[in-house]
Amino acid sequence: MSHKFLDETTVPANPAAALRYTSSMSHRPTHLENTMPHPQLQMILQQMPKAELHIHIEGSLEPELIFELAQRNGVALAYDSVETLRQAYAFDNLQSFLDIYYAGASVLLHEQDFYDMTAAYLRRAAQDNVCHAEIFFDPQTHTARGVPLRAVVDGIYRACQEGPISASLIMCFLRHLSEDDALATLEDALPLRDKIIGVGLDSSELGHPPEKFARVFERCRQLGLRLVAHAGEEGPPAYIESALDLLNVERIDHGVRCLEDPLLVQRLAREQIALTVCPLSNIKLRVFDTMAQHNMLELLDAGLVVTVNSDDPAYFGGYMNANLLAVFDALPLGLSHAQRLARNSFTAAFLDPETKRGYLAQVDAYFAGLAL
Ligand code: ADE
Ligand code: ZN
Repeated sequence: MSHKFLDETTVPANPAAALRYTSSMSHRPTHLENTMPHPQLQMILQQMPKAELHIHIEGSLEPELIFELAQRNGVALAYDSVETLRQAYAFDNLQSFLDIYYAGASVLLHEQDFYDMTAAYLRRAAQDNVCHAEIFFDPQTHTARGVPLRAVVDGIYRACQEGPISASLIMCFLRHLSEDDALATLEDALPLRDKIIGVGLDSSELGHPPEKFARVFERCRQLGLRLVAHAGEEGPPAYIESALDLLNVERIDHGVRCLEDPLLVQRLAREQIALTVCPLSNIKLRVFDTMAQHNMLELLDAGLVVTVNSDDPAYFGGYMNANLLAVFDALPLGLSHAQRLARNSFTAAFLDPETKRGYLAQVDAYFAGLAL
């Protein structure tokens, strides 16, 4: 991955400047319509309107805020500085990440902590021209430490109400815990039902197949909650299938291993089930060795509703636009892919049809207005 491409300081601040900027710049390899020079495509990726559909709010907790909250709350950390904590962010797989991610979340105790964390993410997402975010949170990570569920939900929700972008909440069940624990969490959340748009399933995937959570997802469906689940990140394609058939989910989080099963790919394309793909996460957690080996282009070429997302940006080296830039830098993706990804992010969002049409019109107007 070329660091030059990720260096935002090389990008002109406005489109007109970017268009003047192109003539002397190096050109990308030709692929389809992709004769556009780097900086111009880079600027378009950054400025196009987009939604983020796969962000764990606890994964947006930057080391600086971890230390600030630890001090504020008198929580002892196993690291003596921001730098040593950051140095520990070297992961071999999903579990090695989760261990440190749950340790980081231990500084969150009060409603204000959840508010501060969420407000910081929303401000950062707005800088990347994210207009709408659907935010995951892990209630059991906090309630297990004695934090009231209301403090978690109210803090995150209050920040979302204040903007600067639109946002809704998806409550995730931890799949390494029992279904009874998930059911109890759902009961606890009933008084807060109106603040939650949907539920998801995350944490350690291997050995915890979706079917373990069939009853709790059925109960959520009856409550009118929207349904998603992580599947096919480290787990096999069969987990994607059981998430669809046994949990009735509407989107698959990650899902990149679907390509191992051609019939499943056909089904995902036919039913237009969105995949919320997280490129930097996939590299950091060694789902792919390098970004050049990421299967994003194959997923798009198979007609799938692919979206790009940041997953846990404080741990994986970048927010939304860093993910877009990294994957476009490594793969032969061009302008039409950029527009498709921006459209997919809104098509797959849990927004009412009119709002969705409005955002899609904004995307199309943005691309139509480019002086190429
Ligand atoms: N929790 C936070 N990030 C996750 C991921 N990438 N997969 C599963 N659970 C998670
Ligand atoms: Zn995730």
